[in-house]
Amino acid sequence: MPQSRTILTICGSLRSGSYNAALARALPALAPEGLRIVASPGLDEIPSYNADVQGAGFPAPVTALGEAVRQADGVIFVTPEYNYSVPGVLKNAIDWLSRLQPAPFAGKPVAIQSASMSVLGGVRAQYHLRQVLVFLDALVLNKPEIMVASAQAKFSAEGELTDAATRDFVKAQLAAFAGFVDRFGGR
Ligand SMILES: Cc1cc2nc3c(=O)[nH]c(=O)nc-3n(C[C@H](O)[C@H](O)[C@H](O)COP(=O)(O)O)c2cc1C
Repeated sequence: MPQSRTILTICGSLRSGSYNAALARALPALAPEGLRIVASPGLDEIPSYNADVQGAGFPAPVTALGEAVRQADGVIFVTPEYNYSVPGVLKNAIDWLSRLQPAPFAGKPVAIQSASMSVLGGVRAQYHLRQVLVFLDALVLNKPEIMVASAQAKFSAEGELTDAATRDFVKAQLAAFAGFVDRFGGR
């Protein structure tokens, strides 16, 4: 039986009807044996980054998220694309986490998924996020990539991932990520 690994999902959308949040919720059922997928605390409690606030002490939601990342064997970002890039709330959270010591993302296996109503599925946000993760020294899975394009056609009205091909693509990435974590992870 494979070793049990805990994977944290961090969603870049705050809205209740989010396709990305729905995608993140679908992951536990699509994961291979031994991969336990849990949602991070929401990003909505994290204030805008301000070095003066940091100087007075890291806000509790920041330290909680940083600790959740440190404790996880891997992280999956599930995010929309805003204006060809990473949503501000996600970038803001990453900026806060980047100031913590020990660095939560250093050497951490990471995978990326995006869902968008466009035909490109959020690919431009993914490549900007990859660039940011270089500086954080994260270990990012290259392939398979998961871009859920035309998301409005892939989920039911109740937010269930119903598209069979997408479910198979996601399963393939999670299986690859499990192997990646086993190979490169290690807290
Ligand atoms: C401020 C803003 C900017 C957006 N920019 C893009 C974009 O650059 N590319 C894209 O594919 N979709 C863009 N969209 C559309 C989002 O992909 C769409 O709203 C998606 O449903 C958001 O993800 P969510 O459902 O998880 O909230 C944008 C939406 C907003 C609100």
